[in-house]
Amino acid sequence: MSRVVVVGSFNVDHVWSVAALPRPGETLAGQYHTGPGGKGFNQATAAARAGASTGFICALGEDAGGQLARALATADGIELHELRSDAPTGTAGIYVDRDGRNSIVIGPGANAELSVSYVDLQREAIGQARVVLGQLESPPASVAAAFAHARGAGALTLLNPAPADAVATPELWAAADAITPNETEFCAQLKRHTGAVIDPDKLAALADDELHADCRRLLPHGSVVVTLGAAGCFISHADGQWRGDERGYYRVAASAVRAVDTTGAGDAFNGALAASLAREPAQAFAAHVAYASRYAGLSTERAGAASSMPRDSEVRARFGAG
Ligand code: RIB
Ligand code: NA
Repeated sequence: MSRVVVVGSFNVDHVWSVAALPRPGETLAGQYHTGPGGKGFNQATAAARAGASTGFICALGEDAGGQLARALATADGIELHELRSDAPTGTAGIYVDRDGRNSIVIGPGANAELSVSYVDLQREAIGQARVVLGQLESPPASVAAAFAHARGAGALTLLNPAPADAVATPELWAAADAITPNETEFCAQLKRHTGAVIDPDKLAALADDELHADCRRLLPHGSVVVTLGAAGCFISHADGQWRGDERGYYRVAASAVRAVDTTGAGDAFNGALAASLAREPAQAFAAHVAYASRYAGLSTERAGAASSMPRDSEVRARFGAG
């Protein structure tokens, strides 16, 4: 039962490494490479390499991108549940600057075709999961359908509300046991849900009780894990939600890393968090977050998205078992 099911996107990433991100009207030359990505697939790869038995529900085109996804899922032992679409497999254009920061444009393609009826057909696979993980790169109603099946079977639901400009339906929000926004996603969702405006650059510096109050307004019934990059994470639980956690809110520090490419770092965090929760459900929540944070840190020391996801043994070798 230590299974994770991810419902989400697969993209072929086209990546240019540049000195600085291009400004309007600018033409730059950069180092090009291509590789697998998409928030859903990155998270599924992370969950599998972090040691969880993993299923991935997605939509792929009848093209080279779809074939790439199938081959890679097989290589990582990910059980693929794919809707075959007439639309092209999803794509992303990514610029990475010399500090490892990125700008991304996605072409959803087949990802937009992942339907509620297809997800409903995967009810049995979803019912085998201990943790079901979704994002906002796929139709929110389809992710909500997966969460409904998950909850019906007693699984934990994790929503990574990314990308920041995507809108979650009220049903999806209500069906999430926990959400995992980064600073930008947190501020975008807070504004959407409550009207409150916070500058994402100032979020990490807020007092803990203020941040906790904002988290409670954002997801009154569930846990909020805000990832703050080098500033670590802030965790806020609803009253009595996690018996293993003595405190309602706290921070977990980030490990020191030499980031070369932060593309997919949030995905690494989410996949590893889901895997850790599924593998060792009795552990304190803080320990799962600490593992996910080390896992994500190591992923930033390697170029690429899905292909940069480390194995559990590499995370333990780099940071120790603790
Ligand atoms: O989160 C990183 C991912 O966002 C990339 O792999 C790209 O495909 C986009 O989905
Ligand atoms: Na990376």
